[in-house]
Amino acid sequence: MLKLISTLAAALLTTASFAQEAKKTYTIGFSQCNSAEPWRANMDASVKAAAKEHSEIKLISKDAQNDRTRQMSHVKEFVTAKVDAIIISPLDDSLTPAVAEAFDAHIPVIVLDRKVLGDKYTIFIGADNKVIGAEVGKWAKKTLGGKGNIVELKGLSSSSPAKDRSEPFREQLKGTEAKIVYDADMEWLKAKAREKMQAALSRNPAKDSIQLVYGANDPAAIAAYEVAKDAGREKEMKFVGVDALPNEGMEAVRKGILDATFEYPNGASEAIKTALDIFAGKKPPKEIILGTRLYTKENIDKGGEKIGG
Ligand code: FRU
Repeated sequence: MLKLISTLAAALLTTASFAQEAKKTYTIGFSQCNSAEPWRANMDASVKAAAKEHSEIKLISKDAQNDRTRQMSHVKEFVTAKVDAIIISPLDDSLTPAVAEAFDAHIPVIVLDRKVLGDKYTIFIGADNKVIGAEVGKWAKKTLGGKGNIVELKGLSSSSPAKDRSEPFREQLKGTEAKIVYDADMEWLKAKAREKMQAALSRNPAKDSIQLVYGANDPAAIAAYEVAKDAGREKEMKFVGVDALPNEGMEAVRKGILDATFEYPNGASEAIKTALDIFAGKKPPKEIILGTRLYTKENIDKGGEKIGG
């Protein structure tokens, strides 16, 4: 009798542990650098939606509200909680040590959109901002017929997309008669971009002294248009940006506010897919580079034009 009971108990225990194994959940810690920006709010929604499709994933999302120290704490908290993977869209390079610490603690780290320095992360997923910068340059050169004055509103200088979207853009203008008459760091923020565009106009007060504004993201390009419009000067210039969110940049192209925008995919679904691959024991590549699309008034209703990827 005693033997029977212990056999039964053992069988029950085995079943219970099997059931537990089948029910294994994986916790992913997701740290967003600033959910207040439309492109990032969109990324957050995409990460959540992709995670929701997999009942084994438990997602913990955090918003650093554009604060480096806060984002560093997110990563540390995730390491202490021993999450199964971290997805981070870092504010800038300063997140490098925190990400490296997580990586050294053997937590897979998926870096989205902005890069960290060195190679202490599991995988980087994002579009190639150098390609985007060069494409904006080619588009600008063509649109301006090789000459004209340009205002460049750059992204936060310590974040990788800022430099990557600017240098190849300028490279394309070399040897032409197009020149940059004003540039400034708008820190990716629409309100800052407004201030910088006001400064650009007051430094170039004559009518027709600016032919094109390149905003490193659509909020900046749209802000530039609004400021120029308030000054009655928007018809003098072309406006180009990056992101192409349906309800922001694409809509602005349809309305004739922007002359062009380049899509900047957020990599959310690729990030969740990669996390699942890692959980299944697969080794991911060191990077996944996503493509972009150019949208102009002429091509937007035909789905834009594919570039790279
Ligand atoms: C949002 C954003 C986007 C831009 C990206 C670059 O914070 O500024 O508009 O494309 O970050 O990292």
